[in-house]
Amino acid sequence: MYKIIEKKPLTENTDLMTIADPMLAQKAQPGQFIIIRKDETSERIPLTIADFDRQAGTVTVIFQKVGVSTRELGELQAGMTVRNFVGPLGKPSDIEKYGEVVMVAGGVGVAPVYPIARALHEAGNKVTVIVGARNEKLLFWEDKLRAAVDEMIICTDDGSKGIKAVVTQPLREILQSRPGIARVWAIGPSIMMKFCAAVVKEFNVPMLVSLDSIMVDGTGMCGACRVEVGGETKFVCVDGPEFEGTQVNWDIVLSRKKLFVSEEQESLRLYQNALHSDHVCHLDQELKKNEVEQTVQRVVA
Ligand SMILES: Cc1cc2nc3c(=O)[nH]c(=O)nc-3n(C[C@H](O)[C@H](O)[C@H](O)COP(=O)(O)OP(=O)(O)OC[C@H]3O[C@@H](n4cnc5c(N)ncnc54)[C@H](O)[C@@H]3O)c2cc1C
Ligand code: FES
Repeated sequence: MYKIIEKKPLTENTDLMTIADPMLAQKAQPGQFIIIRKDETSERIPLTIADFDRQAGTVTVIFQKVGVSTRELGELQAGMTVRNFVGPLGKPSDIEKYGEVVMVAGGVGVAPVYPIARALHEAGNKVTVIVGARNEKLLFWEDKLRAAVDEMIICTDDGSKGIKAVVTQPLREILQSRPGIARVWAIGPSIMMKFCAAVVKEFNVPMLVSLDSIMVDGTGMCGACRVEVGGETKFVCVDGPEFEGTQVNWDIVLSRKKLFVSEEQESLRLYQNALHSDHVCHLDQELKKNEVEQTVQRVVA
């Protein structure tokens, strides 16, 4: 059991959770992730390590409440426990002195970008971060991220904060006006990473994306998280999560993420029905359990 030290909302749909795990906090590196499970019957949820405090022995994750498992996680409060908190998983980011680097953080992507940006800055790089969100209300950790980097550019779709633009606009402008950019990172929704990769490809600059494929075991055994990079099959959980973005087959990434949309919608419907009813429907619970088992079988097939 792992104790929740802090739990708070950051935006309407995004929560921060800090968990006590001294061993994990000692080993955590920027770019890595954990798998969390609320209780024995819950799904495994992979989440990027957003921050860690080696002295306090804590690890912080930030999650968007998109479906049943993340909503259930959002119901927990400080003082409660989670059943599993496994990690650090995946390969850490390559932190070196590259010179001048640009990082793009889309939506909840601010969470994984923060520890990488901080480490790159500490390694002596000039770090510019472009943060993109649909509107001002969805932004979080603005001051924390600004304090860790050299320059921050905020874009919102509706212009409620920063410039009214999508992130590829300032990314292109920077790559055009600063030929010395040594490396680009883009972390956020797959579609954003795909378009960032297309821009960066024109400038022939190395670029990393952090993929969030559907995972089951997180140890390279089930094959659920497979993607194609440079024509080769890779497993995001052990070969990634970071890959050269211009080499990723984005059609496969996007189509595999949609594999279980109907099951996810049905689970959410059952969950919402249960929330609005005091009656505990054992039939629904059994259906949900079967659905999880069938989904696991299909995802590894
Ligand atoms: C390495 C990695 C790091 C991640 N880091 C973060 C993070 O820091 N913050 C954050 O908000 N989200 C992160 N995610 C995505 C997060 O794991 C999913 O949003 C979550 O599992 C959704 O579960 P759900 O039951 O609430 O939603 P569901 O309704 O089951 O699914 C909603 C969407 O989430 C994705 N998803 C569902 N199940 C999984 C799964 N087992 N593994 C991966 N994706 C899944 C699918 O694209 C799906 O369409 C990360 C994913 C990976 C693989
Ligand atoms: S989740 Fe990567 S191989 Fe199973």
